[in-house]
Amino acid sequence: MDYLEIEGGCKLNGSIRISGAKNSALPLLALSLLSRQPMELHNLPEVADINTFVRLLAMLGANITTDCIGHRIIDSTHVNNTKAVYDIVRKMRASILVLGPLLSRFGHCEVSLPGGCAIGARPVDLHIKAMQKLGATIEVQGGYILAHAKNGLSGADIVFDKITVTGTSNVIMAAALAKGKTRIINAAKEPEVVQLTQVLKDGGLSIQGIGTSEIIIEGTGGELLDLQSTRVIPDRIEAGTYLCAGAITNSQITLHDICEEHIESMVLKLHEIGFETTFNNNAVTLLPCKNPLQAFRITTTEYPGFPTDMQAQFMALSTQCNGSSFIKETLFENRFMHVNELQRLGASIAIDGNVAQINGKTELIAADVMATDLRASSALILAALVAKGITKVHRIYHLDRGYEQLEVKLSALGAKIRRLQE
Ligand code: UD1
Repeated sequence: MDYLEIEGGCKLNGSIRISGAKNSALPLLALSLLSRQPMELHNLPEVADINTFVRLLAMLGANITTDCIGHRIIDSTHVNNTKAVYDIVRKMRASILVLGPLLSRFGHCEVSLPGGCAIGARPVDLHIKAMQKLGATIEVQGGYILAHAKNGLSGADIVFDKITVTGTSNVIMAAALAKGKTRIINAAKEPEVVQLTQVLKDGGLSIQGIGTSEIIIEGTGGELLDLQSTRVIPDRIEAGTYLCAGAITNSQITLHDICEEHIESMVLKLHEIGFETTFNNNAVTLLPCKNPLQAFRITTTEYPGFPTDMQAQFMALSTQCNGSSFIKETLFENRFMHVNELQRLGASIAIDGNVAQINGKTELIAADVMATDLRASSALILAALVAKGITKVHRIYHLDRGYEQLEVKLSALGAKIRRLQE
């Protein structure tokens, strides 16, 4: 098993390119199931989750080819298998994204209940309820969701009790081929959902309300779509993570290929802490802060609020801020698993329910630590960048799920980081 060894205390400098967004690439891969012709995707991040999803599509019968890194052509025209098996789905919760497209195209499917990051219960009840509203019969048996819609799905009004990102994407894809109009109320507005909807619109589907909490889709009644070649949007979470790497080491770094609007909530938080940033031609530069870093407060919320996927990284940063910072996690009930590991490095953190209080500034000291989920892993690496001595981060298979060449990019910025085997 691989682990990362990081020697703390180096300033960073230089520039790197941000990869395509994993969370946009995954629904786009699922969307290929609805395409009449091979669908071409560019700027896919080369990370484990993408490979897992591609394997899932191949098991369903899709033919996948590639010309170069970050590029795949997915030909789903001959898909004939509608079972997403446990062995793949358990590796990645986002596999649930095949439920909507398979059901709307074939009128039946079996999808294993998902696994994925251990950050709370993370049920899929809202996905199931929405498919039932569109006319599907659903049974859960032997760990599988068995879904049937003998006469196809029919458009309906769907109100999400909670905003769900993959739930919204699943319903959008199901509604695309349903008969008649679907109205999604309380839809997710994340940029990844917006890209999915835009690709469908560019492919000729009638959609209103893109990027708003109410999306209206006129389904094709079973007709497949003419989906265009698409470039995956930049990964806002990867960008935010590297901004935190620059901030925690108080360095000047530049990130290319970012979308300014998508990273606004994180950049504004960095301003509160004392950093300045400049934007130029889809690049952001973080400037070092001349004064002591200020403690801050974060409440995670849906987009455009502060993302839960950046909570752990800002917690690592807060250990270097002066005063008490407070981080409230409102989306996932068990997303403080990085706290124990940050404490092993010397962080002073107290948890009260879903609020973490971090008292800084603390001198962190290197130790062996263990990654527990995808974003928690990157928080440990950020902390290791300033911890005195050599930190070893174990179980980095979590990290490899979503960060493309993290140690290569951090090395390019001047960090002392090596991938080794246990
Ligand atoms: C997506 C992201 C993930 C991010 C999360 C929140 C992808 C592939 N993953 O995950 O990185 O952390 O959004 O921004 O895009 N919920 C239910 N029932 C459901 C579905 C969700 O109760 O059927 C709850 C969840 O437990 C959670 C909240 O709704 O409390 C939001 O979860 P959701 O937006 O669905 O997360 P994902 O789409 O799985």
